[in-house]
Amino acid sequence: MKKIYLFIILTSTLINYSFAQSFNTLWIPDTLSGTTFNLALRDTFKQLLTGQQTITAGVNGNFWGPTLIFHKGDTVHMNIHSYLNDSTTVHWHGMHLPAVMDGGPHQVIPPGTVWQPYWKVTNNAATYWYHPHLHMMTEEQITKGLGGLIIVRDDIESALALPRTYGVDDIPLVLTDRDINTSNQFTIVPYGDSMIVNGTLRPQYSVPAQIIRFRILDAAIERSYNIGFSDNRNFSVICSDGGLLDAPVSVNRYLLHAGERIEILVDCNGQSGTSVDLKAYNSSLSGFIAGGENFPNGPFANALGHADFNILHLNITAQTGAPITTIPTTLNTNVLLNVADANITRLLTISDSTGVTNPPILGPNAFILNHKLFDLNQIEYEVPLNNTEIWQITSSSVFGHPFHIHDVEFNIISVNGAAPAAAQAGWKDVVFIPGKTGNTPSVVKFIAKFEDYSDSLHPFMFHCHISLHEDEGMMGQFVVKDFSSTSENNLSSGSFDFTLFPNPATNKLFIALNDPTTKVYYIKICDAIGRTIYMLPQPKIQNGIDISHLISGNYFLQLTDEKSKQTIVKKFVVE
Ligand code: C2O
Ligand code: CU
Ligand code: CU
Repeated sequence: MKKIYLFIILTSTLINYSFAQSFNTLWIPDTLSGTTFNLALRDTFKQLLTGQQTITAGVNGNFWGPTLIFHKGDTVHMNIHSYLNDSTTVHWHGMHLPAVMDGGPHQVIPPGTVWQPYWKVTNNAATYWYHPHLHMMTEEQITKGLGGLIIVRDDIESALALPRTYGVDDIPLVLTDRDINTSNQFTIVPYGDSMIVNGTLRPQYSVPAQIIRFRILDAAIERSYNIGFSDNRNFSVICSDGGLLDAPVSVNRYLLHAGERIEILVDCNGQSGTSVDLKAYNSSLSGFIAGGENFPNGPFANALGHADFNILHLNITAQTGAPITTIPTTLNTNVLLNVADANITRLLTISDSTGVTNPPILGPNAFILNHKLFDLNQIEYEVPLNNTEIWQITSSSVFGHPFHIHDVEFNIISVNGAAPAAAQAGWKDVVFIPGKTGNTPSVVKFIAKFEDYSDSLHPFMFHCHISLHEDEGMMGQFVVKDFSSTSENNLSSGSFDFTLFPNPATNKLFIALNDPTTKVYYIKICDAIGRTIYMLPQPKIQNGIDISHLISGNYFLQLTDEKSKQTIVKKFVVE
């Protein structure tokens, strides 16, 4: 074992060295905009290196996926076609939406299925992302390349003089790393030897000599990146996970953890003809931060561990017409949540599994939330709809963990008693929970408000965003429940029925509800042998269901009623 890992480290170091000057042009994902988005998930191949192609998976392509551009206030409709060989899910990381549309581990998309979630975009302008979230498969499916960015635009952001020309002065950077074996295939490991940006190895890109905006996502399985520039220049952080900061924050390093996003502005005025490298200064990280460890061998050994390495080589070229040449001094007036409005402090724990006997299956490397492993059938918290809550996470783990919660954007209150750094004082959906200091656990508090969407059946997740830890069970779930509504409480009142017409049908199938006040919660269409073909959360049934893509035969429609959450199955025929 040791010899093999050493060999891999040595060869990859040699490869990195001998090709150090041969850059590839950074790939910029296409954009999709509007209100209807068609995404096709496929197992495929990518020519990453010379020789054998790499087995990958992609969305509308062969690695990663298109950048979706949303406008706040629009209702967006997704047509997700999965042509994958395995089940998957598509989670809208950072989006505030109904739990049944969230794409967490419960919204499984079987192979060959169409999933059609939709929601009204209420998030602030910022950079979000989508990625698979199938329990125990997230690391593998992200490694293969599934995922994509989301850019939300809104009136506040649009009114600012910020770089906004995608791929020119507004550049997405999806940071990750991969371990590539001698047959050019990805291995499923937490850390890779090769830095990859937007699916590109050793990337370079030309940017004009003006203010450049980078939207940076840490999409790694595990690694944090301590971002900085090779000439040690400062850059301005303008946006955190869930929205613009009040004002740009000038820094020369920013430590980005798995799942997190920042938008930064870099001043390249007057620098035409020069070049600079965006780097990860990970040699300064402690061994208890992902990427700061220095394992000489074993499954965590990798060429980038506890090292400084290049992320992107930038060649600065002539200015564009109408360039942005100044960094605004103010951006936004955030109204943050008020601690006085919280009526509960939920106490969560993070711990190392060592010494935990129940359940006894935990290995020495598993990290756990609230002293237990994830259980798909266990709801940890029932959060009352519209509640403002403080979540306090106490970690006795030696290692740092990026904690993520679905449904909401939150404000960090404190990290070990200290107020958050200025660049983290806005809206966040991932917060880094540092490892304990000596024997003193670390304590992080944030505040969030759980508005708009209640559903006592479908939970939202909270978890460590290191996919390895998440897959190993470092995850929990909560529901947002409307305790005041009779429809949420009164589960026994439902007795509903419906008929399907026309039957046989050709292009459209209509549903006649016996009780017109019935609200349709979920419709699933299965074929004669029980394979799921369509998954339609909360469909608008007045217009009928488009079945023009179904081949002739017998089908089953399962309708779940919102009030009782009862499901009735009816057969129909497609001619
Ligand atoms: Cu980006 Cu539950 O994850
Ligand atoms: Cu998420
Ligand atoms: Cu973790």
